[in-house]
Amino acid sequence: MQPHKIIIAIDGYASCGKSTMAKSLAQKIGYLYIDSGAMYRAVTLYALEKGFFDGEKLQAERLEEEMESISIEFRLNAATGLPETWLNGRRVEQEIRSMAVSQRVSPVAALGFVRRRLVACQQALGKEKGIVMDGRDIGTVVFPQAELKIFLTASPEVRARRRVEEYRSQGKAVVYEEVLRNVKERDRIDETRAIDPLRRADDAILLDNSELTLEQQDAWLMAQYRRAAGLDPSDSDAD
Ligand code: DC
Repeated sequence: MQPHKIIIAIDGYASCGKSTMAKSLAQKIGYLYIDSGAMYRAVTLYALEKGFFDGEKLQAERLEEEMESISIEFRLNAATGLPETWLNGRRVEQEIRSMAVSQRVSPVAALGFVRRRLVACQQALGKEKGIVMDGRDIGTVVFPQAELKIFLTASPEVRARRRVEEYRSQGKAVVYEEVLRNVKERDRIDETRAIDPLRRADDAILLDNSELTLEQQDAWLMAQYRRAAGLDPSDSDAD
């Protein structure tokens, strides 16, 4: 029997490993993986390249005027089997992860006109179910009906260390203190913004992964998926 398709929403703080967790599960169970943060990052990159920022201050009205001409797609990379972010027909998977974008994305993600547009796109992507989406408001706003909701957390220091390792593995020089400051500042903006702030949905399962290995986390998530999809949670090699 084919397991029935569900929606899996993974929310949580910046740099908790949401996307690592979501990607790994989606690949194992043959679901579509969507990184909703990549969409906010792509809009931020667009604004940066168009010169809509004075330093870190955004001219929001200029972005609003051009919002309709921003097209964001996810195209599957055949070699990795993972979706990549494309902005107006250009692959931007690397550019959207830069420090310049990371430092400017929270104010962009706090804008109502940006959120309305991106939430509608995200809901359209989930119409057929069979999707794992990670972000900040997936279980609360985008898919309040999701069959499985996870809220992921880890200490700011653990998260900053992970991000530094990620940057360094890509050959980028970063300062730990600066990354830690950025992580904390993004938490503060994400949690206190007026529209769709980061919060745990009442029915989301909380996971603090500060002390977990990736293998432990993956096994835990697989069991949650199997339970939510009506499969035997202990029988992870079946189907
Ligand atoms: O997960 P991330 O660091 O790539 O997210 C980038 C930014 O986008 C972050 O400041 C939070 C914001 N975001 C959001 O507001 N809503 C989402 N569903 C996903 C990300």
